[in-house]
This record gives sequence, structure tokens and C-alpha cells, in this order.
Amino acid sequence: MVVYRDGAEGLEAEQLVGFFVGWRASPSPERHLEALRGSDHVVLALDDARGSVVGFVTAVSDGVLAAYVPLLEVRPEYQGRGIGSELMRRLLARLEGLYMVDLACDEPLVPFYERLGFRRGVAMAVRDPDALAGETGGPGREPG
Ligand SMILES: CC(C)(COP(=O)(O)OP(=O)(O)OC[C@H]1O[C@@H](n2cnc3c(N)ncnc32)[C@H](O)[C@@H]1OP(=O)(O)O)[C@@H](O)C(=O)NCCC(=O)NCCS
Repeated sequence: MVVYRDGAEGLEAEQLVGFFVGWRASPSPERHLEALRGSDHVVLALDDARGSVVGFVTAVSDGVLAAYVPLLEVRPEYQGRGIGSELMRRLLARLEGLYMVDLACDEPLVPFYERLGFRRGVAMAVRDPDALAGETGGPGREPG
């Protein structure tokens, strides 16, 4: 059964295997854990039989007006079961009251986010491949 929880407290890197699919260089589970701990908001989906994380979403926020959602991912074998939508709904509930909640996504995901209440906008981005230097990974898409 998939269960949801807020926050990364007590989480171990070993529970974070199988993410960043398709990234040219993917952060290690240890770096992933650091990123979760450094986020203002984290919602996790766990397979309670295995104890492993199967999906996560993060937000960074000023706590007053704005939040940005940098990462949402569900492990491929768990996709298409409503987990990504549920993670985002739970995150949005935590962010209720803020003026702006922003994210950037690829074109095919626009309908997914529209169903969750987001409206299309224009995003600008800077990506630094050197920040992922030394991480493992193979040929794939640029990080989102
Ligand atoms: C996007 C993502 C988080 C959705 O998680 P999920 O648990 O599969 O989502 P849900 O089951 O709630 O919703 C599934 C719906 O999302 C949409 N969707 C998911 N991935 C999609 C994609 N790559 N292209 C287009 N639509 C997609 C589809 O409408 C899908 O419906 P379907 O299963 O009937 O085809 C997941 O596909 C994922 O981790 N993708 C890789 C990482 C990523 O792209 N993250 C978003 C960065 S902005």
C-alpha cells in the first residue's frame, strides 16, 4: 500500500533509490536526501511494505507570499496510479494562503498541472551542468 507523509525526518538514503530517471547525471541518494532536508516542504509517498520512497515533491518558500516547486517525481513502476497528483494536492494544501506557487514543466505535462489548478505561464531558467559533475547517470534528458 502507498502511504503519504510530510517531511524527511528519519528518512535514510537507502529509501531513495530509483529517482532522477533520464537525467544526464543524477544526484546520489545521499544528495537527494540532502535536497529533501533542505527544502521548506516535502511530501513523500512510500510503499509501506518495502519502506521505500516511491514518489516525492518539494517546495522552497518564503513562507509569506511565494513558493517554488522544483521537483516532483514518481518512480516509473508506480506511475499512472494517481500518486503524482496526490503528492501535488497535499503540497498545495500545505502552501494554501500563499499568493504564488510556481513551477516549470515540459509541454506534455501542461494538462497534468492544469488539472491540479495551475495555469500556463512563461518560465525562464538557468541550469549549471557543473553542479551535477561527479554524479552518476547516463545519456538522458536535461534535469527539469
Ligand atoms: C509527472 C509524474 C510525477 C506524474 O506522476 P504519476 O503518479 O504518474 O501521476 P498520476 O498518476 O497522478 O497522473 C498520471 C497522468 O499524468 C499525465 N502524465 C504523466 N506523465 C506524463 C508525461 N510524461 N507526458 C504527458 N502526460 C503525463 C498523464 O495524463 C497521466 O495520465 P495516464 O496515466 O492516464 O496517462 C510522473 O510521470 C513522473 O515522475 N515523471 C517523471 C518526472 C517528471 O517529469 N516530473 C515532473 C517535472 S515538472
